[in-house]
Amino acid sequence: MQITALKAIAELSFVKNTSVSEAPFSARFCALLCTLLIGLPQISAAAKNGQSPQTKEQISVGDSYIGPAACQGCHPDKYAGFIQTAHHITSRLADAHSIAGDFAAQAAFMWTRNDDLWFEMSARADGFYQTANIMGKDNKLHEHSERMEIVTGSGKIGQTYLYWKGNRLYQLPISYWAASGKWINSPGFPDGQAVFDRPVGPRCMECHATYFETESYERNVYGQEEFILGISCERCHGPGAQHAQFQVDAPDGAGAPHITHPGDLSRQRSIEICAQCHSGAGIKHGRPFTYRPGLPLAEYIEPEPHDTQNRIGVHSNNQVARLSLSACFQQSDDLTCASCHNPHAPERGDRTLFSSRCLDCHSAEACGMQPVLGHAIVDNCIDCHMPERQDKKTGVQSARGMDFPVMPEHLIGIYPDATQRFMARRAADN
Ligand code: HEC
Ligand code: HEC
Ligand code: HEC
Ligand code: HEC
Ligand code: HEC
Ligand code: HEC
Ligand code: HEC
Repeated sequence: MQITALKAIAELSFVKNTSVSEAPFSARFCALLCTLLIGLPQISAAAKNGQSPQTKEQISVGDSYIGPAACQGCHPDKYAGFIQTAHHITSRLADAHSIAGDFAAQAAFMWTRNDDLWFEMSARADGFYQTANIMGKDNKLHEHSERMEIVTGSGKIGQTYLYWKGNRLYQLPISYWAASGKWINSPGFPDGQAVFDRPVGPRCMECHATYFETESYERNVYGQEEFILGISCERCHGPGAQHAQFQVDAPDGAGAPHITHPGDLSRQRSIEICAQCHSGAGIKHGRPFTYRPGLPLAEYIEPEPHDTQNRIGVHSNNQVARLSLSACFQQSDDLTCASCHNPHAPERGDRTLFSSRCLDCHSAEACGMQPVLGHAIVDNCIDCHMPERQDKKTGVQSARGMDFPVMPEHLIGIYPDATQRFMARRAADN
């Protein structure tokens, strides 16, 4: 295992080249390097958890995150696919590459319905800025500028930008909206006002980053030296320092005792890994970033009851609650989020691939539309059984009116309106 060890250490030095934050790294970085070099005693996570280390269900409760690049050497395929996913890029440092919005000439202005207020987005030598230009009662132009520091959102629906004021994070008033390709008021921000003081609380970062040093859910205070941007391997598998160390000197057949394999968990525990971010804000117990995959989520973040969760909403669950109402879920023992989603590969928009996952359990012939559509049915079960819906909870205001994101329904069912639209589109295409 000598070679692997060297490889793992070599890979670690790449940590800074990924979207993982820059400065913050040394402490965590050392956590693995130091253990690799001096071989600290291995404490079995499972033993700490009161289970026999022999049980199949192992949970990584260790505290040292090492970042996704540290997994690359030993799990190259998982890594190569993962870095192309939305999870990996859902938070990044702001730069010309990560910001989707346009800074060129006209595109850089955003007008509001208030004639005395307009915004300008500018690329300067020291970074990217949002400036509110306000015509005062004194007939003088006043400016308020803040630098975009952290980008949230892969850019599918849009992006929102955050800035630091001391050790506090705030949300900037202007976001990027993918549907129009333009700058727009951030969700919940009123058109025609210049709001720069909306705090960004830890629950926001808990859903959009791997780790931030925080005090409590109530304060938008963060350690500026200790954060890992993007949602990485370790948010779904638990902190990996102990695992990486163990694997370096593990004999063949030693297994992988210090890391959580979601496939070994009960269905409920497996879905909770996704539910920490995909079932709404929830009721918060304890401290931010302390839940570990495999532990009971409700002791950390208690999802609201399914019937009170919003029907559909970017930040208000639906996938967990909606899926749970489906016959597919209720009448099978093993349907989880991972039955359809592989977090280690970019799969967005691939209707045929997703449909092949339906066919793991159903035959195309089970569907009454099969005789009408013939073999082509296997290309797309999704548009009829998981149709897209507008998310009325997350509107953005523009000078034109309201705009809403569109997302697929996770209550798998029979939707006559969706079938009608599908058939109309098909007729038009033929
Ligand atoms: C030094 C090499 C090495 C490093 C670094 C490493 N792993 Fe592993 N990992 C292994 C080996 C070996 C196995 C066992 C493979 C097997 O049983 O098929 C494994 C297994 C796993 C498993 C499956 C566990 C199970 O119970 O079957 C997961 C999940 C995992 N690793 C995640 C990670 C993550 C996340 C990282 C980075 C934080 C990482 N690994 C870093 C070598 C490594
Ligand atoms: C730490 C929070 C977090 C966890 C844990 C998490 N997700 Fe996500 N997920 C997100 C966020 C945030 C996005 C939106 C990313 C973006 O587009 O910026 C997302 C996006 C997605 C997408 C859309 C990807 C795309 O390209 O369109 C899928 C599918 C998904 N998650 C599935 C899962 C599954 C399955 C799990 C559990 C195995 C999971 N997620 C765990 C936060 C999380
Ligand atoms: C409970 C978890 C959660 C919280 C809290 C949360 N988000 Fe999200 N966010 C998500 C998920 C999940 C998605 C992906 C939407 C989907 O497809 O379901 C998302 C989507 C987004 C998107 C659009 C990404 C894209 O490219 O499509 C942006 C931008 C965003 N969130 C920013 C924020 C900001 C800023 C905050 C805090 C002020 C925040 N979110 C709070 C989970 C959360
Ligand atoms: C959004 C959550 C999520 C992220 C991010 C994620 N995984 Fe996984 N991973 C899973 C789930 C869920 C499974 C179990 C899949 C199953 O049971 O079919 C899994 C399984 C695995 C396995 C064991 C199964 C196998 O196919 O060998 C390894 C190893 C692994 N992941 C490594 C990684 C590494 C390395 C990264 C980062 C480069 C990563 N994962 C990122 C959720 C995630
Ligand atoms: C893990 C297995 C599994 C997967 C994967 C799965 N289903 Fe199901 N599904 C079931 C079971 C079990 C039932 C209930 C018995 C039946 O109707 O066959 C069901 C029921 C249904 C029904 C009838 C719903 C109702 O309310 O009467 C539809 C439609 C359906 N599934 C479509 C799909 C589609 C489309 C996909 C892929 C997006 C899918 N299923 C994926 C297991 C699964
Ligand atoms: C039966 C298959 C199936 C299951 C099970 C499933 N999904 Fe999905 N999911 C889909 C399909 C299909 C899409 C549309 C993907 C696309 O077009 O890129 C999707 C899309 C998503 C998206 C992106 C939505 C958006 O527009 O931003 C998220 C997030 C997501 N799923 C999360 C989950 C979570 C969390 C679970 C478990 C509670 C889950 N899914 C279970 C099939 C499934
Ligand atoms: C054009 C829309 C459309 C497409 C595409 C489609 N379905 Fe259906 N499906 C329906 C409708 C409508 C029904 C209910 C009426 C019927 O069965 O004739 C249905 C019924 C079903 C049922 C329930 C049968 C029962 O009696 O409970 C299953 C399971 C199913 N579909 C699976 C699939 C799968 C898997 C695919 C992709 C291979 C698929 N469907 C593609 C529209 C569609």
